[in-house]
Amino acid sequence: MRTFQVRAGGGLITSAERPVPSPSAGEVLVRVKASSLNARDLLIVTGRYSVDVPPGRIPLSDGAGVVEAVGDGVSRFRVGDRVAGTFHPTWLYGPFPEWGQLRGTHRDGWLTEYIVLDEQSAVAVPDHLTFEEAATLPCAALTAWSAVSGVGPGDALLVQGSGGVSVFALQLARLAGARVLATTSSDAKARRLSALGASDVVDYTSTPEWGVRVRALTGGGAERVVEIGGAGTLSQSIDAVAHGGQIALVGNLAAGDGMDVNRFFRRAATLRSISVGSRGDFERMNKAIAQNRLRPVIDRVFPFDQAPEAFSHFAKGPRFGKVVISH
Ligand SMILES: NC(=O)c1ccc[n+]([C@@H]2O[C@H](COP(=O)([O-])OP(=O)(O)OC[C@H]3O[C@@H](n4cnc5c(N)ncnc54)[C@H](OP(=O)(O)O)[C@@H]3O)[C@@H](O)[C@H]2O)c1
Repeated sequence: MRTFQVRAGGGLITSAERPVPSPSAGEVLVRVKASSLNARDLLIVTGRYSVDVPPGRIPLSDGAGVVEAVGDGVSRFRVGDRVAGTFHPTWLYGPFPEWGQLRGTHRDGWLTEYIVLDEQSAVAVPDHLTFEEAATLPCAALTAWSAVSGVGPGDALLVQGSGGVSVFALQLARLAGARVLATTSSDAKARRLSALGASDVVDYTSTPEWGVRVRALTGGGAERVVEIGGAGTLSQSIDAVAHGGQIALVGNLAAGDGMDVNRFFRRAATLRSISVGSRGDFERMNKAIAQNRLRPVIDRVFPFDQAPEAFSHFAKGPRFGKVVISH
């Protein structure tokens, strides 16, 4: 089978041939139909991730496909089922356990024609989604689902930018009945965020004090801020969050000094760190996506042969939503 793998020295990816794996007891063989990129994957293939990734590792944590064979004792899936993998392969339910062996870092990922999964680390995907759409769910959508959880009608939620997690957070918070505000860096993206249901969009490049602006627009701050920038944006998020609200700490895309602890105390807000979500969360999210026929926002789909170009496109920007590879 054809795969792409991490090059030595952090130089993106190179193609390779490997034997098709066979499923052991409790495992399923999946013919991969699509995969998708996350910020983490770019760090991995450029040698900048916090975990050492050996050359030869097949990248990508996220993908979807069709079950082509099942090992002994498999009961969750049958041949022909449409499935996606979970980001945390061993986190099934309950609170976040220890970090496990993740795909794309500790074990091979989805940028390949076939993958073997423990049946416990796969979920069925909503019928109305294409494989390209389903491949966007495991990390970005589920992270957004976790970051948005608990928000409802009467709440205001702020998303930062128009990347994979933020666009899903906007869509899911709108489903939950919340008002959504967004920041972004261009008029064209602002229009697209408004079309998806954002009530207000603030350009964070021309309005560096966007936290104050969000506070004014919401009459006291957003009950939830989905924090994408991390150290470089937390200070504005503290201005943007309502008294007693919550900052869901997702990313660290923006370099900076971190937060002013005294100002944070005065907000009486909570900072909650997010680590994607469990399989149970994924299944519940898929129900919500199916019931509401939500469609993921895809920036661009690249054919499998052009996987290196997909990474270059992801690295360059500008983009809106998810970058997908069709296998
Ligand atoms: N904790 C978790 O479970 C988890 C899961 C997934 C991802 N993450 C992390 O979350 C972050 C986002 O992931 P992603 O996959 O959504 O990334 P992405 O698709 O690469 O997001 C890129 C977008 O983020 C926006 N952005 C960048 N810097 C910004 C800033 N200073 N202020 C506001 N927006 C900014 C930009 O939006 P505009 O172009 O609109 O300006 C940019 O297009 C990454 O740090 C990633 O590692 C964490």
